[in-house]
Amino acid sequence: MTKAIRVHAKGGPEVLEFEDVALPPPGPGEVRVRTTAIGVNFIDVYHRTGLYPQPLPFILGKEGAGVVEAAGPGVTLLAPGDRVASANLSGSYATEFNAPESALVKIPDGISDETAAAMMLKGMTARFLLRKTSNVGPGHTILFHAASGGVGSIATQWANHLGATVIGTVGSEEKAERAKRNGAHHTILYRSEDFVARVAEITGGSKCDVVYDSVGATTWRGSLDCLKPLGLLVLFGQSSGPVKDFEPILLAQKGSLYLTRPTLFAYTATRKTLDETANDLFDVVKKGTVKIEIGARYSLKDAAQAHRDLEARETVGSTILIP
Ligand SMILES: NC(=O)c1ccc[n+]([C@@H]2O[C@H](COP(=O)([O-])OP(=O)(O)OC[C@H]3O[C@@H](n4cnc5c(N)ncnc54)[C@H](OP(=O)(O)O)[C@@H]3O)[C@@H](O)[C@H]2O)c1
Repeated sequence: MTKAIRVHAKGGPEVLEFEDVALPPPGPGEVRVRTTAIGVNFIDVYHRTGLYPQPLPFILGKEGAGVVEAAGPGVTLLAPGDRVASANLSGSYATEFNAPESALVKIPDGISDETAAAMMLKGMTARFLLRKTSNVGPGHTILFHAASGGVGSIATQWANHLGATVIGTVGSEEKAERAKRNGAHHTILYRSEDFVARVAEITGGSKCDVVYDSVGATTWRGSLDCLKPLGLLVLFGQSSGPVKDFEPILLAQKGSLYLTRPTLFAYTATRKTLDETANDLFDVVKKGTVKIEIGARYSLKDAAQAHRDLEARETVGSTILIP
C-alpha cells in the first residue's frame, strides 16, 4: 500500500485526493522506490486539468527522488539501497512507486535527494532547450520568459554560463531581482511593460537569436516579434493557456523564422540521451555553476496548495513535496 495523490476526475486543485493505493510488487524491469522528495511541475497541472489527458484514475507526478527498496525480475542497473531520481515517472506524488529502471538515474554523491527532486525535470529541460533545440553560446542574445520560475531559474544561470546575453521576463520586481542574481543581464516586467518594445530597446533593434516561451497564449505573438530574421522560437509550454490559431505564414512574414514545440521526453527517450542529459546537469550542479533553488516545500498531502500557488504565479524556483 502507498499513500498517494490520486485524480479521479479532471479539474482544479480540489480534485487531488490523498488516499491509500494498493501497489503491486515491481514487475519485470521495474524497481520499487521509497520516495524521499517529489518535484512539482506545470505538467502536473496539465495532467490534473485534462489539457494532457490521462486515463482516470491516476496518480499524479512525473518527477521525484528516492531509494530503491526492491527490484523486479530482469533488473540489471539498479539494486536495493541505490538513490535514484527521474523526470519521467507515472505517479511520483506517492510515498512509494514502481518504475522501469530505464526511467531512473542514480543520484551522484554530493547531490541531495531534495535537490534531485527539484531539478531532474526542470534542469534536464533547461539543458535540452539551451544545448539541443539550439546551441546557445557567446554572441547569442536570448529571451527567456518566466525567468524566475522552476525551469527559468536554472536556464538563466546555465545560459549565462554558456556565454549568452540573457533577457528574462518576470511577473514582479522581486522576481526581477532574483533573475538578475541568477545571471539575467536584463529583466522585463512583462505584466506592466511592453516586452516587445523593451527587447527592441535593450538590443538596439537587433532583437534575439532565440526566444524560449513557456507562457504560451499571452506571449507567443510578441515572442515572434522579438526575433531576428531566421531566429528560433522555442515554444515549450503554456502556463497561461495553449497557443491557438497559429498560421505558419506568420513565420514567413516575420523574417523566415523557425518554430519548434519540443518535449523533454523526446530529447531523453533513449538511455544514451537520458544519461548524457542527466550527467550534464549533475556536472553543472556539482561544480556550483547552476544552483538549484527550492522556493517552497509542502507536505505531500498538501499538494493541492502547491498547485494553487504555482498557478497563482506565487512560486519561485522549484517547488517540492515531502512524503
Ligand atoms: N516542453 C517540455 O518538455 C517542458 C518541460 C518542463 C517544463 N515545461 C514548461 O515550462 C513552463 C515552466 O514550468 P515550471 O514547472 O518550471 O513552472 P514555473 O516556471 O515555476 O511556473 C510558471 C510561471 O509562468 C509564469 N506565468 C505567466 N503567465 C502565467 C499564468 N497565466 N499562469 C501561471 N503562470 C504564469 C509565472 O511566472 P511570472 O510570474 O514571472 O510570470 C509562473 O511562475 C511550463 O509552461 C511548463 O509546461 C515544458
